[in-house]
Formats: sequence, structure tokens, C-alpha cells
Amino acid sequence: MALVSAKEMLEKARDGKYAVGQFNINNLEWTKAILQTAEELKSPVILGVSEGAGKYMTGFKTVANMVKAMIEELKITVPVALHLDHGTYEGCYKCIEAGFSSIMFDGSHFPIEENVEKTKELVNVCKKQGLSLEAEVGAIGGEEDGVIGKGECADPDECKRIADLKVTMLAAGIGNIHGKYPADWAGLSFETLAAVKEKVGKMPLVLHGGTGIPTEMIKKAISLGVAKINVNTECQLAFQEATRKYIEEGKDLVGKGFDPRKLLAPGVQAIKDTVKEKMEIFGSIGKA
Ligand code: 13P
Repeated sequence: MALVSAKEMLEKARDGKYAVGQFNINNLEWTKAILQTAEELKSPVILGVSEGAGKYMTGFKTVANMVKAMIEELKITVPVALHLDHGTYEGCYKCIEAGFSSIMFDGSHFPIEENVEKTKELVNVCKKQGLSLEAEVGAIGGEEDGVIGKGECADPDECKRIADLKVTMLAAGIGNIHGKYPADWAGLSFETLAAVKEKVGKMPLVLHGGTGIPTEMIKKAISLGVAKINVNTECQLAFQEATRKYIEEGKDLVGKGFDPRKLLAPGVQAIKDTVKEKMEIFGSIGKA
């Protein structure tokens, strides 16, 4: 199956009261692990690529071509969207040209007028090409690939202005943070989420910072209109722990244990287990 826009899968998720996971990729192993898990569980999936990860993988064209070829070679039949995560204005155009099927323009750090103006332009460009577009209002806290946000709650009226531009999905800050949550984290602001939902109607909402959010909060967020949840750090931590264990147990020193295919295998399995666990919580299994 060819790459698809995220529009249809997210509208189905919104109507069916579940969420589609966006799992960020870093390399071939990550991509393969996520695609195989989605196929095995018959779940739609969104592969997220930050600008930093795109650069690391030598550029967006490499990423798009790798993902498209992998879908074909692995005979993936579930819907897969390849999505730019927290895109800059320039990055959005690069990904459109490279063949991504979904784009996020993160204009949350601009004054609202500029965010509206740039998002509006990108809505038109993406619409012409059949791509889905995510916009953001109210910065997500923490740091992801050098993108630092203060973690403010979005203004529901500003959310309405952006939603009215007919973006496909909207990320609204509700006290969520990229990376691990601090021990004194106040939790998601459901008050903000409900107020945003009230203003934006049926617009599918996106919850960033999916790592470490308790299951009950995730379920409540889905009941209040969240249809896409982003997970990045949790797969990285799972990979790191499994790889550390393999080396600490000295397995790399036994036989051909140094072979990268063996060395990386426990980490890959840990990514698969994490993705499965998240898809179970999000309710997307069997929805492809
Ligand atoms: P985490 O790294 O906290 O899971 O956040 C991922 C994310 O929101 C990507 O945009």
C-alpha cells in the first residue's frame, strides 16, 4: 500500500473514540520495527520525522524513499502516513517535495497572526497535493531535537482561528511536555482540552509528549477529542535499556554477538513491545 494522508485514519479514530499513534523514527531499525508491529496488529500508524532526525538520516528524500520501499518490500497493507514532526516553514516545503504524505507546521512560537498566515498558506499547498496538515497552538513543553517549548496551555480562541483554516488536525498545548515528565508535573489540563474541543468542534486533536502519560489520562484525553498521540522518547528509552542489558551481560563478546544484527536485535524487540503496548492503550489495534 502506498503512503496515505493522515486525514481518513484520524477521522475514523475520532468517530470511533480511539487514537492513532505517531511513533518517531530515527533509522532503518526503528522504521522496520514500527511498520512490522502495525502490520501484525492491523493498526493504522503514523511515522513521525523531526527535522533533526531527517538530517541525521541524510535528508528527507532518503527517509521518504526508504519508507516507501520498506512498505513495498515488507508487504505492509495497513495505512501508513509519513509525517513531518514540528516542521519549520522551510522544512514543510522540503518534505512536500521529498514525498511525505503528512506535514506538521509548528507555528506556535510565532505571534498568532503570523501562525495563522503561514498555516493558511500551507493548508492550500497541502490540499492541492492531497496531504494532511497538522498545526500547533500553545507550545509543548520540554525539548525535542533542539526544539524547546515552555509548555503553555493553548488559548481556545486561537485554536478556533487555526482550526477554521481547515487544517487536518490540531496540536494544542494542554500542559504536555516532550521527554520524561518531572515528578512534580501537574498533569494534563483537561479543562483546557474541553475548552479547545468546544471551540474547534470535530477537528481531530493531537496529543504530543505521549511518553509517560498515565493510561487513565490518555483515555480521558481520547474521550475529549484526541485522535492522534505522539510517542518518541519512550521508544528511545526502551531501545537504550535493552541494548545496555545485552552489552552488560557480555553477550556482544560471545561468538558473533558483535554482529550489528545481533547487537541491535534486543533494542528492536523493545521498540516493538513499546509500540504494541501503546497501540493497546490507544485502542487502534484491528482498526486498519
Ligand atoms: P515524547 O518524546 O515525550 O514521547 O513526545 C513525542 C512527541 O510529541 C513528538 O512530537
